[in-house]
Amino acid sequence: MTLQVRVQRIAQETAEVRVFKLVPATGQALPPFTAGAHIDVYLPGGLVRPYSLCNDPRERDVYCIGVKREPASRGGSATLHAQVREGDVLQVSEPRNHFPLAPNATHHLLLGAGIGITPLLAMGHALAAQSASYELHDFARSQDLMAFQEALLQPQFAGHVHFHIGLSPDTVQATLDRLLQARREGAHLYLCGPRPFMDAVRAIAAATAWPQDAVHFEYFTADALAGQAPGDRFTVRLARSGGEYAIPAERSIVQVLSEQGVEVFTSCEQGVCGTCITGVLEGTPDHRDSYLTEEERERNDTLMPCVSRACSPVLVLDI
Ligand code: FES
Repeated sequence: MTLQVRVQRIAQETAEVRVFKLVPATGQALPPFTAGAHIDVYLPGGLVRPYSLCNDPRERDVYCIGVKREPASRGGSATLHAQVREGDVLQVSEPRNHFPLAPNATHHLLLGAGIGITPLLAMGHALAAQSASYELHDFARSQDLMAFQEALLQPQFAGHVHFHIGLSPDTVQATLDRLLQARREGAHLYLCGPRPFMDAVRAIAAATAWPQDAVHFEYFTADALAGQAPGDRFTVRLARSGGEYAIPAERSIVQVLSEQGVEVFTSCEQGVCGTCITGVLEGTPDHRDSYLTEEERERNDTLMPCVSRACSPVLVLDI
């Protein structure tokens, strides 16, 4: 189900980041959301892009998204910055949360870099409201580029938020080493930021005492396909409808199926949102998404056909 929202306010947070404050276009309350949730925004020109909600989840009449203009993006952030104005009405999805807080954690360690701070800001609000044990570390290349600094300096976050500005790569690594070395029993880790930052944190967490199920992360849309080669040709067989289709190197499963009249629901088409998740009955997927957990990947019983491919010559899908 989609919702109609009006862009009540657009604030320039930094030179690159704008915050869009979205309110109900119809006057009804918006569906509630939990910290870490995102909405899909249906943009002029037919693009659909997921953005994390960054406001306090207790607010029922507003969704706020922070959007960094990405020169290398496939058009989502550029469209929002260039074409969407205050007063415009947009269609958005109901909030969905693939990056929730762990309810049983004894301590929450939130690590964000750049625009990755957006879901962590909503988490900070939720944790402050629960008087939970948490610390939030925000990394930025410079003071000018640090979005939401004013929000994070509000009294409810005092003593919990730490800024790391303009650090060299070695100092970032040393800081992450220090933060991750001593894991408190029952602590959970949440990270969101550019791919090199995420890779560094995940590598340290894997080498120290962090169990996989205590590490939660969300990649940016633009990072989802970074560095991935097109892949080989393979065949997809549809178990329920009986079709069989060749997927050439330069086309996705979703593209080929849609040309053949087989509908798979999609949203981001970048392996981030989880909308297109599909069961795999036979064959080995070549997972290229940023949505499934390591455990889910290893099971090989689902894949994201908007980006993922096959390691085996044939994939049998539960469609
Ligand atoms: S459409 Fe978003 S993961 Fe495939």
